[in-house]
Amino acid sequence: MISSRLISKLAAADSVAVFTGAGISAESGVPTFRGDDGIWKKFKPAELANFDSFMRNPELVWEWYKARRKVITSTQPNPGHVALAEMEKRYRKFAIITQNIDNLHRRAGSKTVYELHGNIERNYCVGCGKPYDDASMLEQATAPRCPSCNGLIRPDVVWFGELLPMDEWNQSAKAAARADIFFAVGTSAIVYPAASLPAMAKEAGAYVVEINVERTDLSPIADEVLLGRSGEILPQILMHCPQEANA
Ligand code: APR
Repeated sequence: MISSRLISKLAAADSVAVFTGAGISAESGVPTFRGDDGIWKKFKPAELANFDSFMRNPELVWEWYKARRKVITSTQPNPGHVALAEMEKRYRKFAIITQNIDNLHRRAGSKTVYELHGNIERNYCVGCGKPYDDASMLEQATAPRCPSCNGLIRPDVVWFGELLPMDEWNQSAKAAARADIFFAVGTSAIVYPAASLPAMAKEAGAYVVEINVERTDLSPIADEVLLGRSGEILPQILMHCPQEANA
């Protein structure tokens, strides 16, 4: 399964970056977006993951994110998340660049995590920008309002048509450009600008490895495609990583 080429690269690497999508959390029970039981098969992104729709019908969007938050916070990191948290200790430079809003990388113990699409456990006021994360408010049936300015409170996630958080993007682009090995795990790699990162890493000389249960638009540019479940493949890859970071 894992080539001798990748094994030697894992032994020699100084900098590793891992780009993740919904597929890495599938084995934890978090639905993907475009899989057979994917979220976008059941719901319309234009109605639910969009600022104008939120302002038009905050109750509908709030209710939906409340339901998603309930599913996500009831799940646990899986062996794929756990392997990456351990892998971070084996390299001097290591970063997770995630499109996921489920916070599972951090809950698995990963430290350097760039959240390109935000985090469902965070919220803020659209009026004054004040952050709101207290659970009692999040349990509210109606879309809560900011006690300071009465603005609507929204989940701190990136909706379609919105810009990515600048600092997270810049850090991600830097990590991709300096990577010796760049893993793309569980992503259909079709949502931009995030999906441009593998090509950026390749361009900068990284060895690009795709891990997915099926081939994607990314497969033709990958140096190696490992077909299978990330919760099974990532622990195997970890076994070939140095015991500790190179000095
Ligand atoms: N292991 C590895 N890969 C898997 C697994 C698994 N156990 N299960 C599913 N996959 C793969 C699927 O084959 C698919 O290629 O994960 C990918 C999930 O793709 P999407 O559902 O399109 O999710 P993602 O790529 O993360 O979507 C990107 O789109 O809707 C927006 O903002 C949302 O961040 C999201 C972005």
